[in-house]
Amino acid sequence: MKRTLLKSIALALSLVALFLIFDNRSEVVRATKVQSPPAKTVEQVQKNIKVLTGMPESQLIPVMNFFAASMGRRCNYCHVNNQGQWDYASDAKPEKTSAREMIKLVLDNNKTMERLKLDPVSCYTCHRGRTNPQSIPALPLALPSPPPNAGGAAGPTPGAAPQASPSPSPSPTPALPSADEIFSKYTTALGGQTAIDKLKSRTAKGTVTQANGSSFQFELTQAAPDKFYLLVTTPQGTIERGFNGQVGWEKTARGVREITGTELSNVKTGNGLFTLLKLKEQYSRPPRVRKDKLGDRDVYIVDGTTTNNQRMRLYFDAVSGLLLRRTTTMSTIVGIIPDQIDLEDYREADGLKFPFTARAAMLEVGNPTSTRTFTELKLNVPVDESKFNMPPAPTSP
Ligand code: HEC
Ligand code: HEC
Repeated sequence: MKRTLLKSIALALSLVALFLIFDNRSEVVRATKVQSPPAKTVEQVQKNIKVLTGMPESQLIPVMNFFAASMGRRCNYCHVNNQGQWDYASDAKPEKTSAREMIKLVLDNNKTMERLKLDPVSCYTCHRGRTNPQSIPALPLALPSPPPNAGGAAGPTPGAAPQASPSPSPSPTPALPSADEIFSKYTTALGGQTAIDKLKSRTAKGTVTQANGSSFQFELTQAAPDKFYLLVTTPQGTIERGFNGQVGWEKTARGVREITGTELSNVKTGNGLFTLLKLKEQYSRPPRVRKDKLGDRDVYIVDGTTTNNQRMRLYFDAVSGLLLRRTTTMSTIVGIIPDQIDLEDYREADGLKFPFTARAAMLEVGNPTSTRTFTELKLNVPVDESKFNMPPAPTSP
């Protein structure tokens, strides 16, 4: 029983990592509203939940990673591991008990923060990657940094205007483009609406390299609107996943299982043909636009709430119009969980441009970054649609 839980968690972790890379944190950009059965809460699935009650089960592992990252530790800081055998339900470790008290502290605190209309506090607000947050300022104090407009002089500038206004810009700042203009420039930069409308299928091969150096090969076949087949070859064996428009599934060495509910909608968006091609539709209302820099490039940042009630920020190159970065955040009752994907090396494949390299950074203690590169990409080749169907369970167990 415990062994099964362990395995399912290990697998959940590795797959979360995988679909992150293969195209994007689905939870966050789920454009299609698949909300058939009400999402299960964590206490309905797990055995020993006392304070996180009411939280969706799909957020448990991200939240646990958030705890570990906030403390700068791994899962075993709070959970028992007996010779490789996890017992997550056990309360034997005092740190787990402290963590429960801390969760209550955060939840109580955030009632006040909500009343003050401020962003919620989280474990990270205090812990910042350490088990012992620093509460007492260290002496001697550092000198405060020079006030703005001090002209680089250290300390207050005598005779400076008491209320220095921001330096007047000689030329008026050029008007920002609208979000619609940015999206249509992006569409044009990719190859145009016609090419996107004509897109019926895509096959890709490539490599995923993780922060720990391990890397695997993958093959991905996608067909409009949202069918896919993914094959990942790891040293532990192959993992297959698919969706035929109706049924989602996964096949590993342990067997075949159907994927449903939130997991299915995550996996669908994560592997969707149009996830990065159709962005505008993913916002629930018109996003805001501002100008900024990403490294030395000028970018327009489009920022707003998705149909899935997450925050999504897109960084478009002001010159080329291409998408350079996407950050998304998932709100949970104990904190806001970010993830980020940087898109590089845009190349044309059969009339449309795709980023051949995607670097994902996520709040996952064992796997904080991974890089997906395509080695082969083909559009609109006929695909054998039967591979999207759930395979029969193997006869021998
Ligand atoms: C800072 C402490 C802390 C860390 C680190 C931590 N957890 Fe937890 N975990 C908890 C607490 C506390 C609970 C119980 C929450 C409750 O009672 O509502 C819990 C519950 C769980 C449960 C549900 C167990 C059950 O059967 O009820 C699982 C599974 C789990 N954690 C997995 C993980 C994994 C995987 C990691 C590492 C990625 C991790 N945890 C890291 C504190 C932690
Ligand atoms: C308001 C600040 C604050 C917040 C928010 C906070 N903590 Fe703490 N936490 C502390 C302080 C202070 C300590 C005591 C550290 C020490 O002993 O020096 C502590 C101690 C702990 C300990 C015990 C460490 C030990 O040495 O035994 C755990 C575990 C812990 N926190 C987990 C969490 C988790 C998980 C969250 C988020 C749900 C969280 N904390 C949120 C301030 C905070």
